[in-house]
Amino acid sequence: MKRTAIYPGSFDPLTKGHEDIIRRSIKLVDRLIVAVAINPSKQPLLSVDARIALMETALAGVEGVECRSFDGLLADFARANDATVVVRGLRAVSDFEFEFQMALMNRKLHDELETIFLVPALNQTFLSSSLVREVARFGGDVSSFVHPAVAEALAEVYAK
Ligand code: PNS
Repeated sequence: MKRTAIYPGSFDPLTKGHEDIIRRSIKLVDRLIVAVAINPSKQPLLSVDARIALMETALAGVEGVECRSFDGLLADFARANDATVVVRGLRAVSDFEFEFQMALMNRKLHDELETIFLVPALNQTFLSSSLVREVARFGGDVSSFVHPAVAEALAEVYAK
């Protein structure tokens, strides 16, 4: 039986920290769906389509990974895709409370769904999409934090 995991998130934008978690995750499962959540209550910087296109560029050649979007509940998306594992990255203790609540809620909604937490490479533990957006907004160099295509997309958006 093939094991499918979902790595859900906003990915606004994808960072090298996310890429690191994706490369670690795919070693553990047969199929990994990197899933951009459509959240009507958030105002993203990049459109869902742009985020997926950037992921596909950054992850080209990584076997077993699919980039998709979903709306509604993650638990329902997992059921619809026969996924039994949710992957989330844990960078610091500050991430823990929210992640713990989310894992328990997801299990309440789908009791076959297990959440696993992976720790990114040490030099990426400080990275977050919101910090990358902030650095890019003020013209800082984000090239060591994101794939070149993501850096280009950010520069384009902020040049407008
Ligand atoms: O990258 P983020 O913003 O921390 O990701 C949060 C995300 C998208 C994983 C979470 O908000 C989510 O799963 N949203 C989908 C809706 C849902 O299922 N909510 C209940 C989860 S407890």
